[in-house]
Amino acid sequence: MPDAAKPFYLTTPIYYVNDAPHIGHAYTTVAADVITRWHRQRQESVWLLTGVDEHGEKVMRSAQANGVTPQEWVDKLVAEAWLPVQDTLDVRHDDFIRTTEPRHEQAVAKFLNDLHDKGEIYEGAYEGPYCVGCEAYMLPGELLAGSDEYPGQPLCPIHKRPVEMLAEQNYFFKMSAYTDRLLALYEEHPEFVQPASARNEVIGFVKQGLQDLSISRNTFDWGIPIPWDSTHVLYVWFDALLNYMTAIGYGSDEPTARAQFERLWPANVHLVGKDILRFHAVIWPAMLMAAGLPLPGQVFAHGWLLVGGEKMSKTRLTGIAPADIIDTFGSDAYRYYFMRTISFGGDGSFSWEDMTHRYNGELANGFGNLASRVAAMVGKYYGGVLPVAGEAGDLEKGLAAVAAKAVADAEAAMDRLAIHDAIAAVWTLVDAANVYITETQPWQVAKEAGEMDADGHGVAGGRLATSLVTAAEALRSLAVLLNPVTPKAAAGLWELLGAEPVLGALDAQTIASAGQFGTLPPGTVITKGNALFPRLAED
Ligand code: ME8
Ligand code: MG
Repeated sequence: MPDAAKPFYLTTPIYYVNDAPHIGHAYTTVAADVITRWHRQRQESVWLLTGVDEHGEKVMRSAQANGVTPQEWVDKLVAEAWLPVQDTLDVRHDDFIRTTEPRHEQAVAKFLNDLHDKGEIYEGAYEGPYCVGCEAYMLPGELLAGSDEYPGQPLCPIHKRPVEMLAEQNYFFKMSAYTDRLLALYEEHPEFVQPASARNEVIGFVKQGLQDLSISRNTFDWGIPIPWDSTHVLYVWFDALLNYMTAIGYGSDEPTARAQFERLWPANVHLVGKDILRFHAVIWPAMLMAAGLPLPGQVFAHGWLLVGGEKMSKTRLTGIAPADIIDTFGSDAYRYYFMRTISFGGDGSFSWEDMTHRYNGELANGFGNLASRVAAMVGKYYGGVLPVAGEAGDLEKGLAAVAAKAVADAEAAMDRLAIHDAIAAVWTLVDAANVYITETQPWQVAKEAGEMDADGHGVAGGRLATSLVTAAEALRSLAVLLNPVTPKAAAGLWELLGAEPVLGALDAQTIASAGQFGTLPPGTVITKGNALFPRLAED
């Protein structure tokens, strides 16, 4: 059971603002939002942090290429792209951190001074390859041989671009000292790195032995100055990882901010893409160990959205903006599509054909049509007022059992971050409710003796009433279960069901309540509403 006093604290990576967001960034952010909305629906207290990574050479160079200062560049991109995309995606974050904010920079300086005082940092020479795309020091063994485009030059395996050779006098963090403690961490806490493939990769990497990490650069100045030597700026990853603590009050002089840190830290889950797994599963816990701070509960690495078999990226100019898709399909369908079709942890790809097909089949016909049919029949036979149901038979009990199982299965899936499985579990109820209507055939029952009164109104307590009340219960359950995934459609459904006046706000319903039928009272006023997912032309 979650500890009531400790909110569920989940983070996304903070994304580089060298350019505008694409659907790869949106993927992690939407996943984070769906997971935290699910926890909110459980009525747990939750904190969702997202934000942007504004320092480093990559951001500095894109600013230079655009003829503005780095600060001007990030201010513009954050205001025009990174903040608005949160609304486009319908993401409900609790905080948005920018690494140029004073609250971050001051707290980072405290952390560095602390590590310096503890003897964890020393001065030394760094010589070796660096990939600006990754903002990472590379090992010669991981580089690719030159390509046609870049003959004879060693390439970054991710960006397929030449690495740069650094030779600098830098400050180093004694990371090698943490090799054994990290291996013990992975061993004692198998949940610390997930999924299993990610855990194996990290263990394999750390088993080779860790080197000390260069944590400063002195050939450019776009970064947080090293507090005791302002001729150096902090390595952008050391700066960025600390956001997870600085955003919630670590190192603050303000008592309220510090209390927030005590309440929220450690994070329950850091969601990341597998490209940045090692930073989170190796460097970050080593930093925390060195500072004597509690470790996060889990680093979960999901897979890549691929375009033409390659990781979609800003640097490789294969990015698609979320709005390109959302303008056509809406944010709900967008969220549903990526969360349902890609097994969370594995790679996946997006196609317009598949998206259109699933939109029409699953959202418009499967779910939306279910709601409009039930609402139309309650309108036609009962003047839009939910009747008293008759006794539940096998079909009704069967549908209620599907709802109960859907809730149990979805809960278990969400707890292991199998978002796709959780949605699939919820969808068993969509499908079963459609089958239930086909089997009970309310429009046929309405023609049977004793089901309608002399005025042509359906009677209470008959089979017609039973089937429509049961179907309405399935819809109520679906509104709750889909609220974390498709919040706009769920709100539309709650409205159509007239549920708010009788049951309260949708956000206040528990997940558990969705597994229990018999909740909407007779007299509830159901209206036709707008189509939850209007059909799209397939071409
Ligand atoms: O790495 N498929 O920022 P970044 C899936 N600033 N997810 C993708 C993706 C794709 N094709 N492309 C991007 C950084 N992502 C650092 C992070 S955290 C302390 C600092 C998502 O802008 C995925 O979450 O390169 C990936 O890990 C992240 O964006 C990288 O974003
Ligand atoms: Mg990247």
